[in-house]
Amino acid sequence: MTNDNPIGLFDSGIGGTSIWKAIHQLLPNESSIYLADSKNAPYGQKSKEEIIALSCKNVELLLERDCKLIVVACNTATTNAIKELRAQYNVPFIGIEPAIKPAALKSKTQTIGILATKGTLNSALFNETVLKYQNVKIVEQVGFGLVQLIEDGKIDSVEMYELLNSYLQPMMDANIDYLVLGCSHYPYLIPQIKKILPKTIQIIDSGEAVARQTQFILESKIGFSASKTPYHQFITNSSSDVLKAVLIHSYDVIERDC
Ligand code: DGL
Repeated sequence: MTNDNPIGLFDSGIGGTSIWKAIHQLLPNESSIYLADSKNAPYGQKSKEEIIALSCKNVELLLERDCKLIVVACNTATTNAIKELRAQYNVPFIGIEPAIKPAALKSKTQTIGILATKGTLNSALFNETVLKYQNVKIVEQVGFGLVQLIEDGKIDSVEMYELLNSYLQPMMDANIDYLVLGCSHYPYLIPQIKKILPKTIQIIDSGEAVARQTQFILESKIGFSASKTPYHQFITNSSSDVLKAVLIHSYDVIERDC
């Protein structure tokens, strides 16, 4: 069974490219279409209804382009909308959720930190997961302002450092030994986070797990691409500069009002 159609991915902006990179590394023969809904970022402060409506809009654009599978490369959209997306569209979806499980299972201090958006931390799906790990203390922190700074290209700014420091200090005071990055934008902050956290605190994100799940779904349900010439298209409804900067290679980046 083979299927040359592209994998579709969307996020509220450029953050989901961290997931795209993990998938591309594991599955280099797969074509892809990535939609950055940067015009509407951040999703983290929006209502569940707004997040569902934006997610539907993004899915429809990807389905128009014949995507065989859709990766919701956004924790906020996954935790607020994936149930509705699965009910509405006849295509397999893979979501991304904060990696609480590995952190909770490995923690020696029985205390883990999670940095995520307000929308993710307040969602029913996230809170159901938390209930499963009552053996650990979970220090939750909303990353107010971080997504916007990343979208504005200010990853390595004093403002970013100060915000991160104020969010991470209480976690260090609480003696966490794992920090879960619960937003697909945040892996781009790992160099900054490492300047603040001691080496004893491990940082976990969900990129590799999502890539493995994508591989599994293609293998078991859809089929891998047999194409020798995979293509990658990135669509943004905002300026393409920051997207191009995080992609590093010169992929096909299109600015489109959508
Ligand atoms: N990348 C999105 C996530 O994983 C960011 C959400 C936002 O736009 O606030 O949650």
